[in-house]
Amino acid sequence: MNQTALVDNVIPRTDILKRAARIGAEIRNIKLSGDLPEQTIAAINGLLLEHKVIFFRDQGHLDDAEQERFALRFGKLVPLPTLGATKGTVSILEIDSARGGIRTDYWHIDVAYVDAYPKILVLRGVVIPPVGGDTVWSNTAAAYLDLPPPLQRLADDLWAVHSNAYDFAVIARPSATDKKLYDEIVDRWMFETEHPVVRIHPETGERTLVLGYDVKRFVDVPKYDGQRLFDLFESHITAPENIVRWNWKQGDVAIWDNRATMHYAVRDYGDQPRVVRRAAIEGEVPVSVDGRRSIARVKVIKQPPANGA
Ligand SMILES: [Fe+2]
Repeated sequence: MNQTALVDNVIPRTDILKRAARIGAEIRNIKLSGDLPEQTIAAINGLLLEHKVIFFRDQGHLDDAEQERFALRFGKLVPLPTLGATKGTVSILEIDSARGGIRTDYWHIDVAYVDAYPKILVLRGVVIPPVGGDTVWSNTAAAYLDLPPPLQRLADDLWAVHSNAYDFAVIARPSATDKKLYDEIVDRWMFETEHPVVRIHPETGERTLVLGYDVKRFVDVPKYDGQRLFDLFESHITAPENIVRWNWKQGDVAIWDNRATMHYAVRDYGDQPRVVRRAAIEGEVPVSVDGRRSIARVKVIKQPPANGA
């Protein structure tokens, strides 16, 4: 059965509201849980592959444990390699703006600095500011298709080095809390991975761009040439035609295909608290157009001190 027929048999088309032509759909009348029938999970996966990011309102019944059970239906859960999970779960990451949480107000793929980065993320809005705090996603398969053929061939050929080494030159006015958090992360965990700039999506066969904030340089390209190439490709990823913007309400759930998107959490809510919780599902090692796999170059993991400091 093809994906369209599968979705039609389980989720009526009238319950699927596209949010933009190329990316994003809101799915209505589904109560997410770990107990959904297998065909509903398969239909949700089909919608995810088609729309890249899907949204569900009114999922306030979910707590961390149920979010985890639901996410487990799509694969094995992986904690963020550089940070611990929230209390009570092994794999739900809390992103809390008021407690100096990790900043994500830049275009990125989640955890792109490891080789098999997560394939799917399930994000739940827990505390949403009255104004602002939207998240924006981009369709990186559409961005690739927008490139003229000579630039597609260039991208097909390029590889990039991704790392979690934090570069304060990228973010204006990092706070002391930001610096302390990232110093601690980089001191204990350093990851560096070479990814192809174009990967073949393992389920759809689409070509998608693998770029974003964690890119430190292109392989065999000098810094300034590389910066221009990066800006050129990123301009297609962030083009208004390729993005969708979600205005969160408490209890919303967003699920995105991390292999075919990049995203940006807009930091426009002042001092208001914003708390979201995220489950990450284990991904595959990217494969280039010529069949080569991403390579993890550096992985340093220092054990935290025994006192937990
Ligand atoms: Fe993210």
